[in-house]
Amino acid sequence: MSEFRHLRHHAGASGDTVHLLQLTDTHLEREFGGKLLGMDTDHSLQAVISQAARERPQVDALLGTGDMSNHGSLEAYRRLKSYFAQLCGQQFWLPGNHDDRSLMALVDDAGVLLSNDIRIGAWQLVLLDSQIPGRVGGRLGPGQLALLRAALDEGAAAGLYSLVCLHHQPVAIGSRWLDRQMVADADEFFATLAGYPRVRGILWGHIHQQVDREWQGRRLMASPSTCVQFAPGSDNFKADAAAPGYRWLELHSDGRIDSGISRVEDQHFEVDLESGGYL
Ligand SMILES: [Fe+2]
Repeated sequence: MSEFRHLRHHAGASGDTVHLLQLTDTHLEREFGGKLLGMDTDHSLQAVISQAARERPQVDALLGTGDMSNHGSLEAYRRLKSYFAQLCGQQFWLPGNHDDRSLMALVDDAGVLLSNDIRIGAWQLVLLDSQIPGRVGGRLGPGQLALLRAALDEGAAAGLYSLVCLHHQPVAIGSRWLDRQMVADADEFFATLAGYPRVRGILWGHIHQQVDREWQGRRLMASPSTCVQFAPGSDNFKADAAAPGYRWLELHSDGRIDSGISRVEDQHFEVDLESGGYL
């Protein structure tokens, strides 16, 4: 299938350390100013971008790790691409359960946006597609796992360290409703990664909350949405009053990763905390 093609891209880095920003689960609506649980997702994304521009003046690439549009609309993808371009000249996206990959591809004029094997400095970024069309939960499947192995074989041969990115969480996070949606073939995913010690981090979106853990010495990282947050530890859908945010990553040339999150501090955002969900 064409979406499983191995799409390599050589990106530029400004120094030895690769500086990345992850902006995830932007959930832009078709119309500018559309709302999700009462929150204007264009506005919240702009607030996150403004804060990131102040806090992180040096950025080599931006990662959009899925649910970029709430209803997979071309208009949303066009606006998103221009918003991201305010922060950085290099941006890469992967699809989430809310996205329409074929429409994402329509804004990919240069054939770079949906690259899944990005070489940047001493690092390789592998961007996987965990979407099951029409479903909320995620799965990689044989095609994406084969792509992962092929990319990591090449990355290891080139002496690169690797950061693997996807939309759905590959580990249970202790929130029952979200854990039903985790990557269905996560066991095969981790069995694959176990054979590639140069994979130093795994990064995802979907869960609209921060996770920072380790697995076999590798970083496991999840991040706030740029809009509505989900309450950690909740059995059922529950929004959280925490502010929108983003994640920064510094990928060092010796394989170390420094990373953290930042949430918008200077604004209040409307959100319907009593909602039973939006999926
Ligand atoms: Fe999602």
